[in-house]
Amino acid sequence: MYKLVIKGGTTLNGIVKIAGSKNAALPILFASILADGPINLNNTPHLSDVSTTLRLLMDMGAEFILESDNSLSIDSSKLTKLTGEYDLVKTMRASILALGPMLAKYKEAKISLPGGCAIGTRPVNLHLKALEDLGAKIHVKNGYIYATTDQLIGTDIHFEQVSVTATENILMAATLAKGLTTIHNAAQEPEIIDLVNCLIKMGAKITGAGTSIISVEGVSSLSGARHSVCPDRIEAGTYLIAAAITGGKVTLKNVRYQSMQSVLDKLKETGAEIDYNDNTITLDMKGKRPKAVNVKTSVYPNFPTDMQAQFCALNCIADGQSAITETIFENRFMHIPELSRMGADLTLEGNTVICKGVKSLTGANLMATDLRASASLVLAGLAATGTTTIERVYHLDRGYETIEEKLKLLGAQIERIQD
Ligand code: EPZ
Repeated sequence: MYKLVIKGGTTLNGIVKIAGSKNAALPILFASILADGPINLNNTPHLSDVSTTLRLLMDMGAEFILESDNSLSIDSSKLTKLTGEYDLVKTMRASILALGPMLAKYKEAKISLPGGCAIGTRPVNLHLKALEDLGAKIHVKNGYIYATTDQLIGTDIHFEQVSVTATENILMAATLAKGLTTIHNAAQEPEIIDLVNCLIKMGAKITGAGTSIISVEGVSSLSGARHSVCPDRIEAGTYLIAAAITGGKVTLKNVRYQSMQSVLDKLKETGAEIDYNDNTITLDMKGKRPKAVNVKTSVYPNFPTDMQAQFCALNCIADGQSAITETIFENRFMHIPELSRMGADLTLEGNTVICKGVKSLTGANLMATDLRASASLVLAGLAATGTTTIERVYHLDRGYETIEEKLKLLGAQIERIQD
């Protein structure tokens, strides 16, 4: 196992290139199951969740090639096994995204129930009910989801709660269903728009992506396609907070500010100066201490839950008191006890954490628990006086591409060492 060792107190300055979006790349890789030929992807992030997805698809008979131009080609057109094994699924909940495409293309699927994780029970009831509405027969036994269908039939789907991957699962299944499917209360994340853009290149007939109503006209087959994965807005937001928490100036390349408006607005409230153009964003904190800012997470286009822990770290050293409310997941405060060990003044009241900013945090030995909580510990370590170590760095590697290398480029004193 590896840990990160951070010597805090350095102001970050410089330029960093943002990778492709994890939460767009994963559904797009699973969409390859729908195609009659290979999908060629540019800008796929080098993350352990991407490797896990490729391993799961290859276990089912898919083939993948890393092309000479560094693009990735995945051919899932001739799967020989229609089972998503527990050992692979348990490490990545997004494996549930194999279900819709397998049902649509192969008319059957056996996928291990993904189970919960550090941030919550993470049920999949919305996925299963919507697939049954499309005509799937589903039962759960011994921790596996068994699903079959003679043919999926388009229909109206009404989600009682907005769900990103449930929206993605259903819209992928609907591409090969007979007739029209209209999804109501659909998630509106940019990663869904990216998935739909790729599906349309494959021949799918979809309208409304990015709104709460998505319509899918089923077609008989989908072809391979070439696609470039959209930038990762959460990685981008994390590096902007790295600049803000250390009083520095950082320019991000290969980003789309349009998908980050709620985060940029909150960062401006802290006193950061922000400039952007088509594919760069610059945050300049000018050495100032950030002002404390209240945050409430919600569905897109509001403030993303995936940025909540990182903003909590910023508020820990901000000037003033703030409240951060988490409305999406029931247990997304695993970073609080760890930040408190660094001297943060945090009080959890239900799904709100009250934060009284302190002048500075002190380095400590910490344990990572989940992807975004781990990122918040790195950010706190960058700002703290003294040395911070963070164990179980594999949580970070799921969603951040070579995080210590990118931070070093910005001047951070950070090393990855063997435990
Ligand atoms: C996606 O997870 C993202 N993952 C998450 O990013 C992100 O935090 C989340 O959306 C919310 O934006 C990927 O895209 C791979 P949900 P997802 O279904 O789809 C409840 C990260 O850090 N729910 O939108 O699993 C659920 O418990 C990860 O990159 C049901 O009750 O989240 C939650 O309270 C973490 N039943 C709420 O809905 C269901 O069947 C929203 O979850 C499905 C969800």
